[in-house]
Amino acid sequence: MIVARTVQEVRQWIRERRWQGCSIGLVPTMGYLHEGHLSLVRAARARGHQVVMSIFVNPLQFGPREDFDRYPRDLDRDTALAAEAGVDLLFAPPVREMYPQEPVVTVKAGALAERLCGASRPGHFDGVVTVVAKLFHITQPDEAFFGEKDFQQLRIVQRMTADLNFPVEVVGCPTVREADGLAMSSRNQYLTAAQRAQAAALPRALAHARERCERDGERDARTLIREVSEELSSAGIKIDYVSVVRDDNLEPVEQIDRPCRLMAAVWVGQTRLIDNVAIDAAAAGANCPEHRGQHPEAAVPGVPLR
Ligand code: PAF
Repeated sequence: MIVARTVQEVRQWIRERRWQGCSIGLVPTMGYLHEGHLSLVRAARARGHQVVMSIFVNPLQFGPREDFDRYPRDLDRDTALAAEAGVDLLFAPPVREMYPQEPVVTVKAGALAERLCGASRPGHFDGVVTVVAKLFHITQPDEAFFGEKDFQQLRIVQRMTADLNFPVEVVGCPTVREADGLAMSSRNQYLTAAQRAQAAALPRALAHARERCERDGERDARTLIREVSEELSSAGIKIDYVSVVRDDNLEPVEQIDRPCRLMAAVWVGQTRLIDNVAIDAAAAGANCPEHRGQHPEAAVPGVPLR
């Protein structure tokens, strides 16, 4: 595995690989790698790409009172994990390489970024799309791989590539979870042992809501939101938002009559955690008499998270 610190090194490496007829898969990360990141590398490899991973804690996407300074960093450990997972080029630029001067021309994420996480993190998604656009220009990937845990980010990046005609396919990959269901995140390491146990209530509440929808046929979004909120509050978890949105465009829904996402952001102590689950409209109807038998998974109690 080659480790590059400069844009010039990356461009040279990409040119050589292109000359050899290789395709490029990009896995953008902020480092402190976990199994979720490594699953993106495996997805890129499975599609036959030379894999470029970026590790860059992007100051533009952190608010003034957020955790930029204490965001976990361990480049030696990440380098070993990336090499083992089969990354071909690791791009780990210092801040001055990505932003040699204060950026004046940036990308705006627009209306999709105003709700959900964007409402409590103003400017966050503008910072994300700006750095992702730069990474796309630097690495020129055929495909780029993003985790569904950051579902709003995934949809916004997909929208940016469509709106700005980036010749990049943005591939969403399933959330990777700990044994108790907690979505893997570099920020989980902020949690104390007690908070870590408490945090498991988040995926549990989402899984219950999904069951209520897909097994019991509850289609009313407000009912599911109330039930999730009650379950989180009784676990002592502070809620930022719980919302049911359309899977494709993140518009809020009242009735679950199409593919949706149940999205939540919470505070466990000082740590903000996000998670989401797909709620499938076809599965939601499976227990209604007119749909019975059409969606095999929905008939099974304890439908797994996905
Ligand atoms: O999801 C992340 O780790 C970051 O938001 C990303 C996409 C690498 C941009 O900094």
